[in-house]
Amino acid sequence: MIKKYSIKKLLDNGKFFLKKKVVVEGWIRSVRHSIFITLNDGSSIRNLQIILPKNLEKNFKKKINIGASVRIIGIIKESIGKQQLIELKSSYINIYGTVDKEKFQKSILQPKTHSLEKIRKQAHLRFRTNFFSCILRIRHYIAISIHKYFHKNGFFYIHTPIITTSNTEGSGDMFQVTTMDLKNIPNQKNINYSKDFFKCKTYLSVSGQLEAEAASLSLGKVYTFGPVFRAENSNTSRHLSEFWMIEPEMAFYHLEENMNLAENFLKFIIQYIIDHCREDLFFLKENIKKWNPKIHNTSILEKLEFLLKKPFQRISYTEAINILQKTNKKKFINPIIWGMDLQSEHEQFLVNHYFKYPVIIFDYPSCIKAFYMRMNSDGKTVRAMDVLFPEIGEIIGGSQREERYDFLLKRIKETNLDDKLLWWYLDTRRFGTVPHSGFGLGFDRLVQFITGMKNIRDVIPFPRTPNHAEF
Ligand code: 4AD
Ligand code: MG
Repeated sequence: MIKKYSIKKLLDNGKFFLKKKVVVEGWIRSVRHSIFITLNDGSSIRNLQIILPKNLEKNFKKKINIGASVRIIGIIKESIGKQQLIELKSSYINIYGTVDKEKFQKSILQPKTHSLEKIRKQAHLRFRTNFFSCILRIRHYIAISIHKYFHKNGFFYIHTPIITTSNTEGSGDMFQVTTMDLKNIPNQKNINYSKDFFKCKTYLSVSGQLEAEAASLSLGKVYTFGPVFRAENSNTSRHLSEFWMIEPEMAFYHLEENMNLAENFLKFIIQYIIDHCREDLFFLKENIKKWNPKIHNTSILEKLEFLLKKPFQRISYTEAINILQKTNKKKFINPIIWGMDLQSEHEQFLVNHYFKYPVIIFDYPSCIKAFYMRMNSDGKTVRAMDVLFPEIGEIIGGSQREERYDFLLKRIKETNLDDKLLWWYLDTRRFGTVPHSGFGLGFDRLVQFITGMKNIRDVIPFPRTPNHAEF
């Protein structure tokens, strides 16, 4: 049996394979002079050059087109061309699937630069483009690095439910989950949810945090890594309606330790990507301007290395407000006063212009943060922290949690949440409660930052945004 290899394996170990007979399979990327084709199988950004067998039948040759899928047997030899070290001199070629000529003309497989908007509209084909396969390989390595980091540091991976009854963040709309017949709901004004599937009103979860907290209060250090859903009508380049979030939760951690962990974690991931994704990062660096003409910083690797150089800047919310108010150079569309949530323009100013480095802002006013954050002794601010990144803005949101039963109950009531629904969460504060902390990292925003893409829709296989759920 002749062995089958991935193109990455062959190209990485070129010399070893010289004169060996191998099988390769993949999709044709280019055809030259009816003799050469380049083949890609997704394992790498690089293609393998193939020399076609002589005397192929005319009708068969016509089917060897860009996009077609093939199985090829041949011998690896040194390449005369300068582009590559090895190539495959084939003796056998079988076509699995040909390409519809008319459809091809309109498809993004046509070898020219297409706009990202057009590429997005053919989401099922965009895996075949160099830029998107690059992004997805990097996305994979980011996910792997996250599991590696937590495993190495004694965290347990837990699965929190996707269907839930509570709105963890307390603000923003949620997607409702129901099996009720929408055309036939008795008493529209006062719907009886005891007739629904779960006998209560349920939603797609915006966060696994509350359940992760319960788990951390036994296992010590846990993390979630799953999809979350938000029905906010935010049509921006940083918002998805369905996105992936990583939420570590640590018993016996104070805010300071939480911030240390967040920074250490982000730096580990960035170092891992620098070490493991050089080829794909290099491709993006060389080509990113094609798709993002307005982009300033094309030196992706340098940008990542720069973030590892020194500790992130840390300032309290009140200090941040002081800086923003004192700055005369910049006029904000939304003038800032203490108590207001920072808008994107304020975050951008602090990160891109003032500190020119990632910033962690902590101790936010309680009125703009979720109910579960620990109240400070000033009675006005909570032990919240957000990590702000260049280009992206908020990449992590977290806090030390309110572990004191009475304080927590008070906050639940103040924020008009239903304490009856949250009975179990409150209960965790009655069985050996401890100081604990955690945060949520927006996975897609991190992929966006690392790959340098302008729009978050270009870093997730099938984006879900307001008005868009195709594919
Ligand atoms: O700040 P958020 O809302 O925090 C939480 O959900 C907490 N329960 C986390 C925790 O403490 N366990 O969201 C966390 C992160 C944000 O910093 C942002 O990176 C990302 O999730 N995020 C989004 N990413 C893409 N699209 C959206 N619509 C997002 N909303 C938040
Ligand atoms: Mg947040």
